[in-house]
Amino acid sequence: MENLIIPRHVGFIMDGNGRWAKQRNKPRNFGHKKGAENVEKVVSACFKSGIEVVSLYAFSTENWGRPKDEVDKIMDLLYKFLIKYEKTLIKNEIRLIVSGNKPELSKVLFELIEKVENSTKAFKKVLNIAINYGGKQEILHAVNRLLKDGKSAVTEEEFESYLYTKGLPPIDLIVRTSGEQRTSNFFIWQSAYAELYFTDALWPDFNEQELESALSWYAQRNRRFGKI
Ligand code: FPP
Repeated sequence: MENLIIPRHVGFIMDGNGRWAKQRNKPRNFGHKKGAENVEKVVSACFKSGIEVVSLYAFSTENWGRPKDEVDKIMDLLYKFLIKYEKTLIKNEIRLIVSGNKPELSKVLFELIEKVENSTKAFKKVLNIAINYGGKQEILHAVNRLLKDGKSAVTEEEFESYLYTKGLPPIDLIVRTSGEQRTSNFFIWQSAYAELYFTDALWPDFNEQELESALSWYAQRNRRFGKI
């Protein structure tokens, strides 16, 4: 992995948990559990390879439309993940940011998120988890706060300081698993110039070799940012 151009900020659209479980004749929630277990491995491989910011799409504003049992299970997995992972974040000096409409989450999850964000806020590497997140909603939320603050015109930099990802570099690479080729309202402002990598691997099967393939592919891209 040496000599590769490593992206600073990588976003993962972790798709395919349901299909992974179905292939094994298991309930969808079994796939989410495996998916959550895989998060830890992939995140640690990312930081090991030199990536500075990892963003994960864990729960979109549209995901509330799933059956209540599935929504409850994903929320429970997120809660358990944060309880368990806080120590690792501190040990490895990783800051947690949760992007999304947090006050709409359950009180226990909301308070836990605030606690972990606070206990890790001094660190430079960032794990940014999108929970109850939608890109359009994020932009509207920023606009409404700008209006409330009495602004009538802002620069790009000022606008970005109203996004959940304030202070983070733009997304260089988006990886989406499970063969779907769309970005589904995932950090649409921050990924304006992102390279898009799609793999057929289902999220629970996405491993270190898969990450290496994505990073090798990225390193060969010629990023022009609109220039020639
Ligand atoms: C997409 O698969 C996955 C989700 C909507 C949930 C993602 C959640 C996790 C991986 C678990 C918790 C996350 C963390 C950060 C611990 P899908 O259900 O849409 O799969 P399908 O397209 O095969 O049905």
